[in-house]
Amino acid sequence: MTQRELVQKALDMRRYSYAPYSGFRVGAALECADGTVFGGCNVENAAYGSSICAERTALVKAVSEGHRRFVRLAVAGDSADYCWPCGSCRQVMMEFAPEMEVICLNGRGQAKSFRLRELLPYGFDQSWL
Ligand code: THU
Repeated sequence: MTQRELVQKALDMRRYSYAPYSGFRVGAALECADGTVFGGCNVENAAYGSSICAERTALVKAVSEGHRRFVRLAVAGDSADYCWPCGSCRQVMMEFAPEMEVICLNGRGQAKSFRLRELLPYGFDQSWL
């Protein structure tokens, strides 16, 4: 999948967002090393802390189907500004793919790309355990 297609998938995944509390729709698209792509959206809950972000939805879908090697993730919010992954998502992505590229999108579909390590410097990982 080209970067353009991955970005479009993240933008499209916002349509499935369940965000009745925040009203902030987020979509994500995660590309695995073998080329498989998993989509995700945020899924909120009346017990707010039980909500899950779009990035983690995509990642948990992938891991639960046997994928653990990831190369790129695109994330799109409804905001005019870029949608940065929250701290919990950065940590969960770090578990599997510290070198992964993270493509953050703004509402106009413009992209800024980072290595996950740039977004989570000095991240905690399995090397401490
Ligand atoms: N959210 C995501 O899905 N991903 C992010 O990177 C930032 C925040 C969601 C969580 C919640 O449903 C809504 O955005 C507002 O915080």
